[in-house]
Amino acid sequence: MRAEHGPVVPVEIEPGVRGWLITDYSTFLSWCRDTNTFSHDPHLWKDYTRGLIDESAAVVPMMAPRPNALFNDGAEHQRYRRAIVDSFGTVSEQRLASVTREVADSLIDTFCERGQADLLNEFARLLPLLVMNVVFGMDEQRALAFAKASRDLWTGVDAERANAEAERALSETVSEKHRNPGDDVTTRLVQHRAALTDEEVIHQMLLMVTAANEPTANLINSTLRAALSEEGHGPDLYRTDAELGQLVDRVLWQDPPITNYPAMYPRVDIPVGGGRTIEAGTPVLLGFAAANHFFARENADRIAESANRAHVAWGAGPHRCPARDQAVTITTAAVRAVLSRLSDLRLAVPQEELRWNLTGLSWVPVALPTSFTPQNPLPRATVEGNHWSPSASPRETSEPNRPTSGRSPLSSLSSFLGKLLRGS
Ligand code: HEM
Repeated sequence: MRAEHGPVVPVEIEPGVRGWLITDYSTFLSWCRDTNTFSHDPHLWKDYTRGLIDESAAVVPMMAPRPNALFNDGAEHQRYRRAIVDSFGTVSEQRLASVTREVADSLIDTFCERGQADLLNEFARLLPLLVMNVVFGMDEQRALAFAKASRDLWTGVDAERANAEAERALSETVSEKHRNPGDDVTTRLVQHRAALTDEEVIHQMLLMVTAANEPTANLINSTLRAALSEEGHGPDLYRTDAELGQLVDRVLWQDPPITNYPAMYPRVDIPVGGGRTIEAGTPVLLGFAAANHFFARENADRIAESANRAHVAWGAGPHRCPARDQAVTITTAAVRAVLSRLSDLRLAVPQEELRWNLTGLSWVPVALPTSFTPQNPLPRATVEGNHWSPSASPRETSEPNRPTSGRSPLSSLSSFLGKLLRGS
């Protein structure tokens, strides 16, 4: 494909949706940084603004214009991004790791007695959403509504209703934080000096949740798969955080969590050789997996020499991921919890039988079947708490959260999970 087309390939993102895909590392970096020529704003997407894209196309919810950081340029982009970075950045690494560990332990408790689990669908896909719900300071009822709606959105169950319910849960949370501010990310967004409207706050929350969910779930899944596939070693190898960190970096090279998304739109026609031109306003998808793959293949010696972080899995230029440290913190805490709790953990099927689905924008893993020696759930306090999370609006501290007397965070979180998994 690269031999025939060079660094950018014409693609049909889905039937009727034309675009291009960047497959070359240097082109990827220089185009992402060239804000004079390329925009992130889908208002420039000519086929869409001319009404040539069917509103029911699967990519429309992922690519249509929204007032958020990802889909804006210049001063508006800076305003949204600053609010996100300032708000999410105040959650300390210790607190994020400790919330992740509690969510991970509660999820593991739901399947550890069985001796087998699908660690993608029963663990990795639920964990980032639940962690974000906690740091947003959502109460149990809204967190439950939001988590159910998000799950229906992923599985395509009545997407329109699910979308409306997800937005309602966020909108009610924003109203609640106006009335009762807390020490949480939602309150910080509401009170940020960028003076976001409530609609803008909701759009930044939706962006954060969607940006966090699937990529972080994929990274947890791929890191676990890599640890369990390590020839002759197995999960015991990753005892230290440095070893686990190196594994995560290797996965980010070989199996970046985002495959081909988002798109940029050239402001002018771009000649790409061979008499071909990318017309202004045509989506150009960022091919993270292809750019990493070809660069690693062509520079195998240099990359093998060191733990190299030059991959493009976090993007490049002004829109690069603002939460990479937090994403790594969540991933390593989640993987650590699984490796330390489930002894004798192994893949339940040969590696080559693991399946992926190909969608227009990504390779999506289907399941991660594993088996292990059955374990008891963690002991917890007998009194079930009223709150679903370590605290609905926890105070920020530099100390990891510990259960307080009388009410175990783990017991209340597990009761929340029971309701979520039972669908009640
Ligand atoms: C493994 C997990 C993650 C990966 C691989 C990842 C990757 C990326 C990439 C590649 C971009 C840039 C897209 C571009 O260049 O246009 C991006 C943007 C973004 N990510 Fe992440 N991300 C992850 C987790 C998270 C988390 C946990 C958050 C939580 C807040 C987050 C928030 C965002 C936001 C808000 C943007 C848009 C930034 C902007 O447009 O200025 N990401 N992410």
